[in-house]
Amino acid sequence: MSEIAIVTGASKGIGRAVAKILKANNYTVISISRSRADIGDLIYEADVSDKSTVFKIVNEVLEKYGRIDVLVNNAGFGVYGSFLETDLDEEEYMIRTNFLAPIYFMKAVLPHMVSRRKGNIINIISEAAYVSTPKLIVYSGTKAGLASVTNGLWAEMKKYNIRVSGIYPGPVRTNFTSHPSFKRSNSDPFSKYAVEPEEVANAVLKAIRTGKREIYVPSKLKLDPYFLKLANLFQNFTYDLISKYFS
Ligand SMILES: NC(=O)c1ccc[n+]([C@@H]2O[C@H](COP(=O)([O-])OP(=O)(O)OC[C@H]3O[C@@H](n4cnc5c(N)ncnc54)[C@H](OP(=O)(O)O)[C@@H]3O)[C@@H](O)[C@H]2O)c1
Repeated sequence: MSEIAIVTGASKGIGRAVAKILKANNYTVISISRSRADIGDLIYEADVSDKSTVFKIVNEVLEKYGRIDVLVNNAGFGVYGSFLETDLDEEEYMIRTNFLAPIYFMKAVLPHMVSRRKGNIINIISEAAYVSTPKLIVYSGTKAGLASVTNGLWAEMKKYNIRVSGIYPGPVRTNFTSHPSFKRSNSDPFSKYAVEPEEVANAVLKAIRTGKREIYVPSKLKLDPYFLKLANLFQNFTYDLISKYFS
């Protein structure tokens, strides 16, 4: 029997490319998104921000297939605009989708993986987790939160032989900028440097094979955490300097 993989946000962009590459590698793929995915052996039209829906789906998959080998938490979106402009209701929904939904899935799937001493969790995060992106500040917060949970779980799950990986893409050519908030700002900030979703899908395969804690796409982005440290150092230095003039 082939390995069983759940992919959230499989209808478009990165999730669709992940579902495709997993199918090509003989996985049985369970695709979940609000609009119907066109790739997958079992396809759910569902909103992952709803906790009870997530637990129901995971239970159904376990009943049908008896196991889950791989979970790819990918569903997500960004609300674009300055902190003062963005809509709080849209951002709360984004926090539930980007940050809470992966936690619901991991809570639902991990007890089962732990009992089998086998499994891969792959969280699609973003370089925004390390370098807070202007006009995507709350989005960056959801990704920083997910990065922290991913790193903690990577350590906690080791003794159970469960591998937990975070994928950190820079801009990727997807439908990400189709959220209405980008249109309100009349901006498509990603087009110039974007990579193709297949590159991220390849990184997911690499994560499954190696269990690496962090994979950056493209790989040069692995310097991001160090830039952040430098920026913070500089910020503290500037803050201290300016503070002297106001004391
Ligand atoms: N594109 C980038 O530049 C970039 C960079 C770094 C990280 N990422 C991350 O990559 C992931 C995938 O984004 P993408 O770029 O591939 O964007 P995308 O093309 O817009 O795809 C997003 C996917 O998530 C699904 N989705 C969104 N909200 C959902 C919800 N509440 N319930 C179920 N499914 C939901 C969408 O499907 P439906 O609309 O059908 O529900 C769609 O399949 C996100 O987590 C994003 O933050 C993207």
